[in-house]
Amino acid sequence: MEKKISKVNRLLGRLRVPSDKSISHRSIILTSLAKGVSTVKNFLKAGDTITTLNTYKKLGVNIYEKNEVIYVEGKGLYLSEPEDILNMENSGTTTRLTAGVIAGNNIFAAFTGDNSLRKRPMKRVLEPLRQMGAVADGRKNGEYLPFYIRGGNLKGIEFFNEKSSAQVKSALLLAGLYAQGKTTITEPIISRDHTEKMLKSMGADITIEQDEFYKVSINPSGELNPIEIDVPADPSSAAFFIAAATIVPNSEILLKDVLINKTRDGFIRKLKEMGANIEYINQREQAGEPVADILVKSAQLKATKVSKEEVPSMIDEIPLLAIIATQAEGETIITGASELRVKESDRIKAVVENLKALGLQAEELPDGMIIKGKQKVKGGIINSYKDHRIAMGFSILGLIAEEGIKIIDADCVFISYPEFYTHLEKIIE
Ligand code: S3P
Repeated sequence: MEKKISKVNRLLGRLRVPSDKSISHRSIILTSLAKGVSTVKNFLKAGDTITTLNTYKKLGVNIYEKNEVIYVEGKGLYLSEPEDILNMENSGTTTRLTAGVIAGNNIFAAFTGDNSLRKRPMKRVLEPLRQMGAVADGRKNGEYLPFYIRGGNLKGIEFFNEKSSAQVKSALLLAGLYAQGKTTITEPIISRDHTEKMLKSMGADITIEQDEFYKVSINPSGELNPIEIDVPADPSSAAFFIAAATIVPNSEILLKDVLINKTRDGFIRKLKEMGANIEYINQREQAGEPVADILVKSAQLKATKVSKEEVPSMIDEIPLLAIIATQAEGETIITGASELRVKESDRIKAVVENLKALGLQAEELPDGMIIKGKQKVKGGIINSYKDHRIAMGFSILGLIAEEGIKIIDADCVFISYPEFYTHLEKIIE
């Protein structure tokens, strides 16, 4: 599907963007391992999270929906051997977290995925799981899908999570539930912490230390308690509308119930530094996570620098930040973000090539990009590379493009935000 986004006068209104993708994945995976029935309200129904739901059904978990609430009948740590290969479609989070779960179970499971997922690195999770005692192998010595795991008989390890990958940390914490002894993951920069928070609320033996580095440890505790989860709105989805209301003149929008966890709101903090008019209202707690309504008004932006330490808390929003940096006064320089090259697409290449296709000035760095500011956007055609965040990011730029922007393969937004284009129409004045 192609989608043309045309220039608008202004954006006005309120939205509740879809629920958080990371928490939705974890709400199924972790409760599948509890002893008893958990409930999940406001579960994100999108491509990736439906993949997780289907995967845990294939692992023998009874999951059903009643009155808009998902019920998960946890099996108490031990899952059934799947009868067929698990197809993880486009979802890196489902793949890597489930690898940790299977490693702890005394079962065999084979995994594959779509064209994009089969290009993404997997050894980062298979290698430490092997160290813990899992038998695992795959294409290119376990670097790529398809791979298999035969789990069981794990022992705890100490692991340095150099890339600050939340997926790797989560896989090892989940495997640590089954291991003999303590499993410790140390991170130079803290990555999103939803897994450890949710595991703790379920009664897992988790300890957290923060000195020079962030350190999370788990001791096997036997059993996880069922929980009730109400998933807040996704800051990574809210980011598109925050960016839109900032760069489209005379706009004002209110985004309801957004997760503002410190490991996730780096984009908002950075945009404020750049001069954006963003306010958190009605801050509160929901299911152990900080939540707020976010009021955004248009503003003039100044260019910025993004460095390595800032990357994990805004990793999925960096393509969007680079795209709107074309509207900021000065030159924006992003470094320390080489992980963007191994996401659903090579997001450094996808952003820079598409900006150039629109006649805008941008430059690739091995680990980031340089974006020239205050550029007039005439418009044109961009390729989403079937990557949801690239499609949505350039749609936002389309709102200020003289002749609009046409997005090729725009339907990939279903991966995290199926209602994206209808929501966008709702706030266009
Ligand atoms: C995620 C972690 C991040 C992020 C991804 C979701 C998660 O990936 O980019 O969209 O839910 O744990 P990495 O763990 O590879 O950094």
